Amino acid sequence: MCGIVGYVGKRDATPFLLDGLTALEYRGYDSAGIYVAGAGCLKRAGKVAELRKAVPKGFHGTAGIAHTRWATHGAPTEANAHPHADSTETVWLVHNGIIENYNDIKSRFLKKGVTFRSDTDTEVLAELIGSYHTSLPLEKAVAKALGEVRGTYGLAVMSVKEPGKIVAARLGSPLMLGIGTDAYYIASDATPVLKHTREVAYLDDGEMAVVTEAGYSIHTLGLEPVSKKTETLEWDVEAIQKKGFEHFMLKEMMEIPETIENTLRGRLLPDIGSVNLGGLRDTLPQLAKIKRIIITACGSASYAGRIGELLMEEFAGIPVEVEIASELRYRRHTANERDTALIAISQSGETLDTLEAIKEAKRHGMLTLGIVNVVGSTIARETDAGVYNHAGPEISVASTKAFISQLVVLAMIAILLGRNDGLSASEGMRLVKELKRLPALARKMLDKRGEIEKVAKKYAGMRDAYFLGRKWQCPVAYEGAIKLKEISYVHAEGYGAGEMKHGPIALIDKDFVTVVLAPKDSMYEKTRANIEETRARGGKIIAVTTEGNESDLEKIADDVITVPAAHEALLPILTTIPLQLFAYYVAKERELPIDQPRNLAKSVTVE
Ligand code: F6R
Repeated sequence: MCGIVGYVGKRDATPFLLDGLTALEYRGYDSAGIYVAGAGCLKRAGKVAELRKAVPKGFHGTAGIAHTRWATHGAPTEANAHPHADSTETVWLVHNGIIENYNDIKSRFLKKGVTFRSDTDTEVLAELIGSYHTSLPLEKAVAKALGEVRGTYGLAVMSVKEPGKIVAARLGSPLMLGIGTDAYYIASDATPVLKHTREVAYLDDGEMAVVTEAGYSIHTLGLEPVSKKTETLEWDVEAIQKKGFEHFMLKEMMEIPETIENTLRGRLLPDIGSVNLGGLRDTLPQLAKIKRIIITACGSASYAGRIGELLMEEFAGIPVEVEIASELRYRRHTANERDTALIAISQSGETLDTLEAIKEAKRHGMLTLGIVNVVGSTIARETDAGVYNHAGPEISVASTKAFISQLVVLAMIAILLGRNDGLSASEGMRLVKELKRLPALARKMLDKRGEIEKVAKKYAGMRDAYFLGRKWQCPVAYEGAIKLKEISYVHAEGYGAGEMKHGPIALIDKDFVTVVLAPKDSMYEKTRANIEETRARGGKIIAVTTEGNESDLEKIADDVITVPAAHEALLPILTTIPLQLFAYYVAKERELPIDQPRNLAKSVTVE
């Protein structure tokens, strides 16, 4: 949801700001803008490339801020693009988040005769800061204004009166400071900063940084000093580059085998059929007493959670409930949930709905655990304990390798909990052995991408698609549907295959494509029957099954894709891959902007 960058240093700010926006573009790409002290402000509707083209020669200065937008208030026009200024054009700011009470503040200024040039909440905040900055230094004006607003923000503010200074503040939207040798960098996340420095400081909610070429200081919004340790970034620069792939999505899918290796690295204990999850070690005594688990997440991560639910019920015998975070946060918990653990899954670690669900769970006494990819992210810090995915940066908006790594982590947690509660050593050993096989099996799956591309090309013109699966494969069906719809704009729905007869089957006709996940597992016969039912209504069928079983399905399906055989509880890790590839190749055939699909953003920090 919007990307922010800032630069103060000895060199020209413009190249860092433009490259930084490109690196953050996955967070939003409706419009972009830049403000450089001494050079001025420039904005464009559309992608960062439009802004880059528009930057004139001589647009230089040693301090500046920039923004790439995912629209919340106001259409994605040039007028609504950031940076926004107050009416005297003294204060300039970029903002990620939402000012909820902006209308009240706006009417105060409208009464005073101020004219606003945009429909945004951010311009109102600029006006408010500007009104205090007439008599206060910038940081005090920002602090005072923020004391009056309700909502969320990651902010970077500059003033014409104090041109070499940036004031950055955070509440609910991520913001970090990169500390270089001759410059300071501000960014929504680490990607723009990696090339320049590895030393960073993450702002926490309610904190503000005042940055000049001479140094930086961190304060509370009440301007009390905060001492903060800096951290060292571990991701390498190569990880955020396309390395010859046409799209990040393809590159990230091709990284799945290595991702699984990284997620498993050092965590398997084959001799005792268990796992070692360092991030959970301190909570093990508490975990041993847990009677119920709630898994929460959004979108794809929530589908990973549904597979986690099955894994934990099957191997640990613990009742698990999965609820999407945007609903969970408004549900009633009982006053004391000390026997319940909440597992929050988030690639970015910044998803606001998930974060709020965690806070609500904490208020009710739950132990909160995170399965998070981005190290140091808000959810990683907000949860009591957790497990990092180690999937590396995921840039494409559609989650692929991170989703797979979430499944791997969930399987390991299920084994860990199970070994405390009835899962035998031999079954644990078998599962650990199966986990170790996954990277090679995933590689084998990816080697078949040519076949999947052919199938995708054949169906690329489709209007609608169902994805069906049972038990382990039901959440995979949900995941297949979301992937297809988000990047190829094909209407798609995922169902438990048994649900078809309760309504969805009414839509089946000769133009309707149904992708059925039918590996040779304990659900196979029932799923096969659902294929027959769909076939009988004239629908087109693409079946995904395990190697060796293709001949049985070729009789009733139009196309058959095979995946290597594996333990049925771990098969979702493999059956997801062809669905990701299918969505990718359909979108490619339709010539769509795969890494940055319309209306979406990678990190969703608004409600
Ligand atoms: C779909 C997708 C989204 C995310 C969801 C949660 O491909 O990527 O549905 O899974 O927005 O994001 P995180 O995992 O960052 O909390």
